[in-house]
Amino acid sequence: MSVTILGIESSCDDTAAAVVRDGKVLSNCIAGQEIHRRYGGVVPEAASRAHQINIVPVVHQALEQAGVRADELDAVAFTRGPGLIGSLLVGMSFAKGLALGLGCPLIEVHHLQAHVAAHYAQHPAPAFPFLCLTVSGGHTQILLVSGHLEMTLLGQTLDDAAGEAFDKTGKLLGLDYPAGPEIDRLAREGQPRFAFPEPQIKGLDFSFSGLKTSILHFLKKNVVENPAFVQNNLADICASVQHRIVTILMNKLEQASRQTGIREIAVAGGVSANSELRRQLVETGERLQWRTFVPPIEYCTDNAAMISMAGYFKYGKGEFSGHDATPLARWA
Ligand code: KG4
Ligand code: ZN
Repeated sequence: MSVTILGIESSCDDTAAAVVRDGKVLSNCIAGQEIHRRYGGVVPEAASRAHQINIVPVVHQALEQAGVRADELDAVAFTRGPGLIGSLLVGMSFAKGLALGLGCPLIEVHHLQAHVAAHYAQHPAPAFPFLCLTVSGGHTQILLVSGHLEMTLLGQTLDDAAGEAFDKTGKLLGLDYPAGPEIDRLAREGQPRFAFPEPQIKGLDFSFSGLKTSILHFLKKNVVENPAFVQNNLADICASVQHRIVTILMNKLEQASRQTGIREIAVAGGVSANSELRRQLVETGERLQWRTFVPPIEYCTDNAAMISMAGYFKYGKGEFSGHDATPLARWA
């Protein structure tokens, strides 16, 4: 029996819809929100309003590109959390209305479980058990994945996420939000000649807030001595910051692999677009005989194909939601 799922993602500042049929992605549409750039970060109120504007056109586009009529859908999946409550409400309410209108089941999806599910759209997909490093603007964690929807948290950030570390440093350097891609671009012309300390966190947890503070002190000290310091050394500063963030991630990933004996390594989330992280993954992977999996960028950043894919596996298990479901800003 063929199964067709529409997925809706609206946890942060991207409105996305996608159709998956029998585990194959037929469409993956997204409407980004430029409005947050000028504020240097996501403004929750503005994000909810933009979701309201974007949701209907994006869903139409996803159905059209997939060549699927709404009445052919077997279920509607949506992100229940974690995320911004006002943003989640828009996607969830739309999903409920659509499922009710079509008389089909509703499926709630955990955003971070979905980042892992993005790998199931790839060939070959990682084999179970595998480790998944999820690195985005909101999350940094290492999961041990033992089945399509079965995963155990091995470690996570105690404060800022890796993407946040890129974005907050970028703000200190006068770069636009989100600064991760710009730091990546500038770092290619620089050398990591400034040393920032590696936080001493036990186990597989991460911490990035101390790094931000040490960069702030470093900039203040050097700008007092030379007001043009940032301008004259921007590429080297970016390369140094990027090097430190990436080595923090890689050291923990290596530790997790050693601890579990797992060499099947996947990476998800927006930060996996980072070229230095990708380079080090290849290098470490060759040294330690890992099989590494980094999906194409449209499946790494927030997208709805991953929601549809997680929804597809939940459909198979008959895991449906009631229409009294509420969004969860925090969800363990
Ligand atoms: O997964 P994502 O699209 O959204 C969520 O936060 O859930 O991730 C966005 C994050 C931002 O912090 C952005 O700066 C970072 O991913 N990012 C990058 C790169 N591309 C996106 N960070 C470093 N290097 C990149 N090339
Ligand atoms: Zn995400």
